[in-house]
Amino acid sequence: MSEVATRYPGLTRIVFSEEEIAARVRELGREIDASYPPDEELLMIGLLKGAFVFLSDLARAVKRASLTVDFLVAALYGEGMDPSREVRLLYDMGTPIEGRHVLLVEDIVDSGKTLNRIGDELKRRAPRSLEVCALLHKRLARELRYEPRWVGFEAPPDWLVGYGLDLGEQYRHLPFVAAIDPEDKRGF
Ligand code: IMP
Ligand code: MG
Repeated sequence: MSEVATRYPGLTRIVFSEEEIAARVRELGREIDASYPPDEELLMIGLLKGAFVFLSDLARAVKRASLTVDFLVAALYGEGMDPSREVRLLYDMGTPIEGRHVLLVEDIVDSGKTLNRIGDELKRRAPRSLEVCALLHKRLARELRYEPRWVGFEAPPDWLVGYGLDLGEQYRHLPFVAAIDPEDKRGF
């Protein structure tokens, strides 16, 4: 049994270690910073809850004078790849985004439903630019209207937890990304 499985029953393996994530987040921060004019403000919008850890590290890796942060809470209702699944915006920001450089920060792109829904909503508000940065991408989505410009890692098709990602609200606090034992997932 791996060390991680002993400490956290239900996890099978570490997929991305704390060190790997930290190194990649530093790279993403540099790339993002270099992509916007240095004297212009960047508004990072995190999709809660999943993106809370990633956004806090990413924001600190973008070394520029003017950067602001806001959040949206979205939740997906329904099962699996069912096309009737619905994304609902549970909390909206108070701040207007018209004319601003918006970077939407997402934990993981799976079916792509969340990005499509939230992307359309933000675009309607006429930002100056709209880009997406996702920590993980499963590359399963069909018809993704807002393909992330920045992706941390290509993700395996497993259910992943840690670094903000949950299974039934558990495991968000893990400093690494790990895969869940599929047997264990049935309990949720
Ligand atoms: P999508 O709308 O199907 O792309 O799903 C996006 C949301 O589902 C993400 O923001 C996550 O919160 C959640 N999600 C998708 N895959 C995983 C996973 O492997 N682990 C944890 N959460 C996931
Ligand atoms: Mg989620």
